[in-house]
Amino acid sequence: MFFIFSVVFIWFPEVISSAVVTLDSIEINKTHDWLRSEPTVYFHCKEENKTDLPDVKKVHVVYNFKGEESWQPLTEFLTRRCKRCGLYEKDTIKSDYVFDEWEFCPSDFTTPDGRYIRFKDKEFNATFLCQECVPQGNNVSSNASSSHSGGNGESGGHGENGMFWVIIVVISVFASTVFVVGLISGYKYWQKRKRQQEQARFLKLFEDADDIEDELGIGPLSSSI
Ligand SMILES: *[C@@H]1O[C@H](CO)[C@@H](O)[C@H](O)[C@H]1NC(C)=O
Ligand SMILES: *[C@@H]1O[C@H](CO)[C@@H](O)[C@H](O)[C@H]1NC(C)=O
Repeated sequence: MFFIFSVVFIWFPEVISSAVVTLDSIEINKTHDWLRSEPTVYFHCKEENKTDLPDVKKVHVVYNFKGEESWQPLTEFLTRRCKRCGLYEKDTIKSDYVFDEWEFCPSDFTTPDGRYIRFKDKEFNATFLCQECVPQGNNVSSNASSSHSGGNGESGGHGENGMFWVIIVVISVFASTVFVVGLISGYKYWQKRKRQQEQARFLKLFEDADDIEDELGIGPLSSSI
């Protein structure tokens, strides 16, 4: 286990299993498009699809979400790498208004329940939720390895939820490989054995034939009779 663990960390230090980010709550303090009666607010990460927030229409109203809405989740982290994401409002004439644009990172989710509050004065206050982003060592304090969880950030990365699945996958791949290799060598060995046996039987046949010929005192040419 320890060996596999080490190998995984040397090879894939930044892999986490998919960590889904949902919007927990949002409040906007301003709208910008004078032509629309209701704003169209959306969340967008670079190279991903836009996510419209269909409910967010009024300023100074806190919208709380369950995380199960049709437009959730907002995005997903596949590695510990940050994404360039932002909150925008569609604009009929000009380019879309940018509430905020920032580097959105799995390490932002520092509370034990995996919350991250993004607040910009006079603009918005949004709470994002990503439980899988939280290093496991932070909320499992009774764990035997908790002595290593003191430092946040890099060293905290060892205990992610995702790590468990990575290890499972690696072990499965390893076990399957061993199984397949074993199967192939077994089959090859069996083939070799079979060939040897056949050869032995073949030789024995000749010997037997010779014996019979000797006994009957006939030559090989007349043995077909
Ligand atoms: C973006 O949306 C398109 C069409 O709605 C869909 O085919 C595609 O898979 C989406 N891409 C991502 C990254 O979600
Ligand atoms: C932002 O929203 C969160 C959750 O609703 C709340 O706990 C926090 O106090 C708010 N922050 C500000 C500065 O309004």
